[in-house]
Amino acid sequence: MTAGSATRELFGTKIGFLLAAAGSAVGLGNMWRFPYQVSEGGGAALVVVYIGLMLVIGIPLMLAEFAIGRRGQRAPAGSLRKLGGPAWGRLGYLFVLVGFAILSYYSVIAGWTVRYGIEAVQHGFASSAADHFTEVASGLDAVAYHVAFMAATIAIVIGGVKGGIERASLVLMPLLFILVIGLAAWASSLPGAAAGYAVYLMPEVEELLNPSVWRAAAGQVFFSLSLGMGGMLTFASYLRRDQNLPESATAVSFTDFGVAFFAGLLVFPVIYSFGLQGAVSGSTIGALFIAVPSAFESMGAGGRIVGLFFFLVLALGAITSTISLLEVVTASVMDEFGWSRRKAALLTGTAITLVGIVPAMDLDALGLIDKIAGEMLLLVGGLALALFAGWRIPAGIRDELLAGASPFWQRQVPRILFVMRYVMPPLVAVLAFFSVRETVAAVVAFFSG
Ligand code: TRP
Repeated sequence: MTAGSATRELFGTKIGFLLAAAGSAVGLGNMWRFPYQVSEGGGAALVVVYIGLMLVIGIPLMLAEFAIGRRGQRAPAGSLRKLGGPAWGRLGYLFVLVGFAILSYYSVIAGWTVRYGIEAVQHGFASSAADHFTEVASGLDAVAYHVAFMAATIAIVIGGVKGGIERASLVLMPLLFILVIGLAAWASSLPGAAAGYAVYLMPEVEELLNPSVWRAAAGQVFFSLSLGMGGMLTFASYLRRDQNLPESATAVSFTDFGVAFFAGLLVFPVIYSFGLQGAVSGSTIGALFIAVPSAFESMGAGGRIVGLFFFLVLALGAITSTISLLEVVTASVMDEFGWSRRKAALLTGTAITLVGIVPAMDLDALGLIDKIAGEMLLLVGGLALALFAGWRIPAGIRDELLAGASPFWQRQVPRILFVMRYVMPPLVAVLAFFSVRETVAAVVAFFSG
């Protein structure tokens, strides 16, 4: 329980922390979930609402997590207990559970991306994309790719904060940025790209007032920015006090949005240029994995190359996210039980791998866990963190936001604190309420067949 604050690991450089946090944020949420949320819910209106909620909820909550983690110098349970007492500390156990659950199915989807990438090299994409997706998505093959992806994740986390997570992020993130921009540039040259851009970029006013667009956008903010389960908190516990937290949260959030935005600039022209709207508006988890490969398939050899890069981007984004999810669980066990990093990562990673066999065998189960852990529990956890930062320890948060901030950002701190106290908690409360209601209904429907 006392395992060494004296020996706590640290990020080596400021940019290393930024890229690791951006790596956590950028992932399947950007390239897979964002475009399909947009096409399902209101097109460009969702993009607009997303930006608004990112500013008033996303960035303040990320800052709250950064401040709590750096001040507490522990994984979520330890930090919350140290700063707020034992009752708050128990919230940390919920976060471990949520991280555990999200990683168990996230790694399954990540496994699909690796499989598609390998197939692009070996023999190209299948002509019956939907049937092929069914084969890829569930069953023993899906289990095998999931296990492999978890093994890679565990190996990086065992490497530690600096030697594993930071090093991987410094190499993989710039590569991802280059590839996603290159792919968006390629997509702009497709015939009929303009129709895709129109849906993506021109909001309809009535959709802006649609509550379900707001709920979808809020869920996306939490998932995409890795908020609500202590992921950003854990990374910030490895920071020195000279990191500029407000600037970091802003940079990470806009980077994450930038990648999601470019992913949309890639996916929408592809869908409209190849007339695949039908395949996507079925709006299952597999939309992207069916529509985009069938476009690549119809392009012949060139499609195999573009497709390889596409799935490489997805896999790169995924691995920098899975390491952050596993890090929360690993760091919690290290802090609470005093285990070594190797032992903690191996045992928790293995347990998550085993649990992941369920979503790897059953696509409906995967969707259900995503709804419960990937949306509802993030909003509930986010509400607790918002209340903790805004109302339980506001003075400590203020102190932490000022430390390391430039004069410009120090001047913004009073405004940030106002938002953290009066804007973010009530807004998150409303959104969490709707999410709980909707999720409970979905769970009931699932189990009553
Ligand atoms: N943000 C990642 C994505 O968009 C997923 C992720 C990583 C995550 N760590 C998280 C989501 C912690 C919620 C909480 O793909």
